[in-house]
Amino acid sequence: GGAVDAAIDAFARGDPVCIHDAADREGETDIVYPASGVDADAVRRMRNDAGGLVCVALADDVAAAYDLPFAQDVIDHDLAADHDLQYDDRSSFSLTVNHVDTFTGITDDDRALTITRLADAAADARAGDAAAFDFASEFRAPGHVHLLRAAPDLTAQREGHTELALELADAAGVEPAAVVCEMLDDQTGGATTPSDARAYADREGIPYVEGSDLVAALR
Ligand code: 5RP
Ligand code: CA
Ligand code: ZN
Repeated sequence: GGAVDAAIDAFARGDPVCIHDAADREGETDIVYPASGVDADAVRRMRNDAGGLVCVALADDVAAAYDLPFAQDVIDHDLAADHDLQYDDRSSFSLTVNHVDTFTGITDDDRALTITRLADAAADARAGDAAAFDFASEFRAPGHVHLLRAAPDLTAQREGHTELALELADAAGVEPAAVVCEMLDDQTGGATTPSDARAYADREGIPYVEGSDLVAALR
């Protein structure tokens, strides 16, 4: 459809899109960028206009190539025991990282550096060149950018923003690394409503897509 095509075009250019997952899932709209398209202004947009967590979703093969686990599998604490997530089978959270050339890791410049180097890492891994990218020398953990690990078959297995963003990356022919950040409403503190998210997207010239439309068009 038109909205999906516009989203693919935006991603191919390195521009953001807004993705609403589903009313019967989180019911959230994330601002999403291909990781290679993120600069300090993009980080500023995410923290000011979205306000949620800035995360980098990595394809499963990329995460595997760099030994990036699910956080739940490596946290040695009762807190990581089985939790019933209310909106999905499991969380996609992996580690948090900073690029080694960052100072605190949280500034717009620092996070943009961490994110763009993650894009390079993902591109190398997808090209079969993970051995050429020294992930452990490039990043330290814990850090200020949350990594997310996608389901291997993306939306065939899980329809989170993690997988929706990476479906879009594949369709746009960009590296399998995408930044996602939830839009929160400054008045209510809850998720920005779909109609408010759509109005924001229209105002900013950002494509707005429904997760179900992405799945229908790209699977
Ligand atoms: C990380 C999250 C967000 O919801 C993000 O969209 C990724 O999660 P999911 O794939 O479950 O939608 O929890 O801030
Ligand atoms: Ca805000
Ligand atoms: Zn989400």
